[in-house]
Amino acid sequence: MSTALPSHFPSHHRESLRGERLPAVLVDLDAFDRNVRHVAATVRAAGGARIRPATKSLRVPALLRRIAAADPIYQGWMTFSAAETRALWQDGLDDFLLAYPTVQPGDLADLRAVHDGGGRVALVVDSAEGLRAASQAMAGAESPLRVVADVDMSVRALGGAVHLGVRRSPLRSVDDVRRLFTLAGDLPGVSMVGWMGYDAQLAGLQDANPFHRAMNLAARAVRAVSRSRVRAQRQALSEALTRDGYRVEIANGGGSGSIDHAPREPWLTEVTAGSGFLGPHLFDYFTNVRFEPAFFVALQVVRASDGGYVTCQGGGYVASGTPGWDKLPLPWWPAGARLVAAEGVGEVQTPLRLPAGAGVALGDAVLLRHAKGGELAERFNEYLLVHEGRATERAATYRGRGWCFG
Ligand SMILES: Cc1ncc(COP(=O)(O)O)c(C=O)c1O
Repeated sequence: MSTALPSHFPSHHRESLRGERLPAVLVDLDAFDRNVRHVAATVRAAGGARIRPATKSLRVPALLRRIAAADPIYQGWMTFSAAETRALWQDGLDDFLLAYPTVQPGDLADLRAVHDGGGRVALVVDSAEGLRAASQAMAGAESPLRVVADVDMSVRALGGAVHLGVRRSPLRSVDDVRRLFTLAGDLPGVSMVGWMGYDAQLAGLQDANPFHRAMNLAARAVRAVSRSRVRAQRQALSEALTRDGYRVEIANGGGSGSIDHAPREPWLTEVTAGSGFLGPHLFDYFTNVRFEPAFFVALQVVRASDGGYVTCQGGGYVASGTPGWDKLPLPWWPAGARLVAAEGVGEVQTPLRLPAGAGVALGDAVLLRHAKGGELAERFNEYLLVHEGRATERAATYRGRGWCFG
């Protein structure tokens, strides 16, 4: 099947889409590589030593490998599920931090298989139950499973009435963390090797969001307050554990949205970044970081119900998070195309309102950008990797590999 591309279609996508069956996802490798270099340079300039990429924010093994090969500052992987960790290890990757806790025996068995097989893996824990489950799962193992305490970095005020950040870990104070370290020391099969303090309210905070203009000033205030609170909290924790005599191998923090400042904290041994490499439109609404758009979904125009409107096949790729228009794909080409308020993006079709003179006909391709980095991969078997305007490779997504980790 051949795709008709109008003459004013962005030239760097023209050749890559010729003959492609739509919908299809294009990764502009040149932009992707620039993002990878930009993240490495930003973290390095801020004093950071290591970056542990977040696999969930890509979900394409070939792209993960491309990041690792680009610069030695990229070391290890932050994974999101035990089954995923095992699959990636069997695929040849190593050095994992599973950053979301689990107490399921099946999950812990997956981690044990990696560990017993010689893989390097650490599991995040935030409760005594989690530690005990990991300890039991490791019964009889030759060496202990490395575990990392996940510490809450949210800012709470007025007795909990104000809560800035995510609701994940119950470990808030230095003493909470100390208790978990002490318990780990008493349990067989586990060894506490560090802590993770993810600053979600900074790394995920949009402060120039056109969909929530009224909130932007407040978001900037939150950023200013949170930044110093998070920094002070991570410093206090690091100093307390050092005073207690613990050797901290992993102290992880940050995300794509905080790579400009998190690596300035010398007590963090590593920062994480993921979505930024693909430049989803979520990051268009941050004032402190900038990434190039590096992946696009191309939809086929299949109908034209009214003058100024076309309807495309596919498009319903809504991102997770607080529901809102900013979680929907953003029409990118033709410039000025907009979603239709009454429909948004559809399960199988998506209408677009076109600017005058857009010159898009049935069979043409339009481009949209996803809001986040990894979730689009759950809807496509492969991504087209485009270099200098030509598709050079097809890269299987997790879905294309037959992987589904929930
Ligand atoms: C624990 C943790 N660290 C870091 C990140 C940052 O990932 P990204 O760079 O894709 O925003 C996330 C994202 O949700 C996370 O949950």
